[in-house]
Amino acid sequence: MARVLSGVQPTGDPHIGNYLGAWIRWAREQQPEHFFCIVDLHAITMPHDPEQLRDRTVDVACWLYACGLDPALSALFVQSQVREHAELAWVLNCVATMGELHRMTQFKEKSQGRESVSVGLFDYPVLQAADILLYHAEEVPVGADQQQHVELTRDIAQRFNSRYGETLTLPKATFPTAGARIMDLQLVDKKMSKSLGTAGAILLGDTEAQTRKKIMRAVTDSGSEVRAAPDKPGITNLLDLMAAVTGASTQDLEDHFSGTRYGDFKAEVAEAVNGVVRPVRDRHAELASDLGAVHESLAKGADRAREVAAGTMTAVRERVGFLT
Ligand code: TRP
Repeated sequence: MARVLSGVQPTGDPHIGNYLGAWIRWAREQQPEHFFCIVDLHAITMPHDPEQLRDRTVDVACWLYACGLDPALSALFVQSQVREHAELAWVLNCVATMGELHRMTQFKEKSQGRESVSVGLFDYPVLQAADILLYHAEEVPVGADQQQHVELTRDIAQRFNSRYGETLTLPKATFPTAGARIMDLQLVDKKMSKSLGTAGAILLGDTEAQTRKKIMRAVTDSGSEVRAAPDKPGITNLLDLMAAVTGASTQDLEDHFSGTRYGDFKAEVAEAVNGVVRPVRDRHAELASDLGAVHESLAKGADRAREVAAGTMTAVRERVGFLT
């Protein structure tokens, strides 16, 4: 049974791409050895509002529980509540090099065009390495854009081990199946993301009417056939979305919708999406109305995480020559 860790940014409203692309699988495959970290330390690498960060941290926890993460199984916790993350990040700062951090494409993208870039933003991948290495994670389920950070984590761990002796476990990234990669409904060549504007992203927090409207207005392609093809990215994306929520194959869906007009097809997709998200939305509303229980679950998650993280730090401190 592989030890798993993944991280979620507490930024903004989660969308159906987060749910279908990652969280549904986290919930389905969860085990007591799985750790999920809401990365609020990472969130302050960019300008932010403190009150909003606090609210979003709790809200994303509500969504993750609503998606099926069970506090009795996997450990969901808030990064800043386990102080070992910052501590290990410092030690790893002295193992990582400026050169390798300069090569990180996420840093290049996020810092581009900014007048003032924090050291924290540059150092972001080292903190991420600490997240992963504290738990001896063997597998890190992430989007493809995070592969570079997980590879850097391996390099840092390897260098630490060769310098100080075998201590840290080398992780590998795992990716969701291709079918669950949902693209923006308006900009169909881009992965669904709230930062592209909300017209093309179905937010988990949307109402059913809003969801329906966004799907009915989704970009389609020329022609009239409901068929997946490279020159039909809009319809292909809606078919992928339908496949992800129904579990049907693209082939079955193409057969089922053969001769169907785009409008009727979209109406069915909207119906199916709302049907799948409905219980998640309901559960989220329940959790959000009793935040005391959510804070309690997070505190328990942090206790479990700390236990493992503290063990790793004891070994690391000893290895690098700190007094015990
Ligand atoms: N950088 C990740 C992202 O942008 C979030 C993250 C932080 C993460 N720490 C992590 C992902 C550890 C996996 C493991 O999505």
